[in-house]
Amino acid sequence: MIKKCLFPAAGYGTRFLPATKATPKEMLPILTKPLIQYGVEEAVEADIHTMAIITGRGKRAIEDHFDISYELEHQIKGGSKEQLLNEIRGLIKQCTFSYTRQIEMKGLGHAILTGETLIGKEAFAVVLADDLCYCEEEGVLAQMVEVYEKYQCSVIAIQEVPEDQTYKYGVIDGKLVDGTDNTYRVANMVEKPEPEEAPSNLAIIGRYILTPDIFDILRETKPGKGGEIQITDALLSQAKEGRVIAYKFKGKRFDCGSVDGFVEATNWFYDKM
Ligand code: UTP
Repeated sequence: MIKKCLFPAAGYGTRFLPATKATPKEMLPILTKPLIQYGVEEAVEADIHTMAIITGRGKRAIEDHFDISYELEHQIKGGSKEQLLNEIRGLIKQCTFSYTRQIEMKGLGHAILTGETLIGKEAFAVVLADDLCYCEEEGVLAQMVEVYEKYQCSVIAIQEVPEDQTYKYGVIDGKLVDGTDNTYRVANMVEKPEPEEAPSNLAIIGRYILTPDIFDILRETKPGKGGEIQITDALLSQAKEGRVIAYKFKGKRFDCGSVDGFVEATNWFYDKM
């Protein structure tokens, strides 16, 4: 059973400057809801209720969002606007939130390692809130939990991307398993390869289920591409032992860490309203 979800949310979000100078990227809203709230909702849908959030300097708004705002709630009590807070109130009631700070932003792998103190020795989910996913039926994390229950090893979500876009992602090499058309045993992974070096067009997106031995591996992982400690490099050690499954999820994903993806998501959710 997966009980905890880690949200690395310490990155600088430089692609959204100046908006992210004093506001966390994860608090930018798609319509009226901040990105990280979509992520927490996805975790709850997968029956995960313990949220572990990696923050950094200037990220306090995340903690305030998942808390009661007495003054505001008092102001709008009994009025027509009160119901606008129903959803977030309900969400807060179903979850516990804990936080730790990443002091130096040394990459996603380092952010995940910072979360060890909140996770302990159990398998856990990871959501990068700037990858916003929408699924008609089950959410991506709920789909991945089922895959984890079957294979009992790390699970990464993948999606097919155009071949000229591989340089933006970790890209996997693997073989389909058990006669499926969406589940791969990963043999190799390359971080942000140019198209000619990419082993496939199957790109890793911001959803993971990781077994806790990943922390020991991350401790030994040297900085990779961009001088950052990459989760892909740590996962590669597990993959070499056949312990990583890549799962092509059913649903849509928006790269809300980029302005183009953010605008696309905004328009798409607005049209769907
Ligand atoms: P990104 O690669 O999107 O980086 O990180 P970023 O710094 O947030 O954004 P840009 O590129 O400067 O615009 C992917 C995820 O990993 C987290 C980010 O918060 C984001 O959710 N992250 C990244 C950390 O928590 N710590 C880090 O040191 C790096």
